[in-house]
Amino acid sequence: MGKIILSASGKGGVGKSVFTVNLGATLADRGVKVVMIDMNLGLRNMDIYLGLENKVIFDVADVLSGLCGYRRAMLRDKRFPCLHMIPATQDRSKFAFDEAVVANFYAGLRESYDYVLVDGPAGVGRDVSLAAAGCDVAAIITTLEYVSLRDADMADRVLSKAGVARRACVLNKVNRELIRSGLFPSFEDVSARVRPPLIGIIQYDENINIAANCGVPVVRQRGSYIEENFNRIADRLLGL
Ligand SMILES: Nc1ncnc2c1ncn2[C@@H]1O[C@H](COP(=O)(O)OP(=O)(O)OP(=O)(O)O)[C@@H](O)[C@H]1O
Ligand SMILES: [Mg+2]
Repeated sequence: MGKIILSASGKGGVGKSVFTVNLGATLADRGVKVVMIDMNLGLRNMDIYLGLENKVIFDVADVLSGLCGYRRAMLRDKRFPCLHMIPATQDRSKFAFDEAVVANFYAGLRESYDYVLVDGPAGVGRDVSLAAAGCDVAAIITTLEYVSLRDADMADRVLSKAGVARRACVLNKVNRELIRSGLFPSFEDVSARVRPPLIGIIQYDENINIAANCGVPVVRQRGSYIEENFNRIADRLLGL
């Protein structure tokens, strides 16, 4: 039975969707079956990060309403045969389902897939609880800014209440020179301010930004330090 992993954050724009897509590509490269669900309702992004935006016909609300089966809504990436994705609806009002329906949907997918990766919305609102319904693990993505760390800790509380038992923190867009300057939080500040353990550090790297904008998971760049780093983070996340 597959594992359901949520990417969450308090603050927006910290890199959840890019993280999800690259985690998905990393796992799919190992030959396991991965499905990614974009649950950023009304703000679909993941299709663009995979370069599949022109292929979207159905979305997650269509699947849950019974308009189509989940296989019809799935986007398939030729570069990653084991990686599938279901896009978010762009019309938030189309999504009138509760947590039990969402959890049941994920539970159905875990029967056929090794990993169900859920790209959640930022914040601490209802849509976070919907995205988190029935998830086993959450990766809480944060940047090294005090506001982002505080929001990550708030998100952790919401996810705990939503029943996500295992949670860990991933630092993204890290600039070590700025940390050395003393003007930004240190790694020690992270553990003092965010409760879940820190399981990964991803540098700020323009290549990540450029690849996302070109619709390519950056881990596809074979032999790069980023590919290695994502493999390490994936191992730690799966070991939680
Ligand atoms: N490590 C990184 N280095 C450089 N740029 C990055 C990195 N991670 C993400 N980005 C860039 O940051 C921006 C936001 O990323 P992303 O869309 O994944 O954030 P998000 O948390 O999903 O946002 P939202 O809260 O809106 O869903 C994008 O332009 C992305 O390319
Ligand atoms: Mg996003």
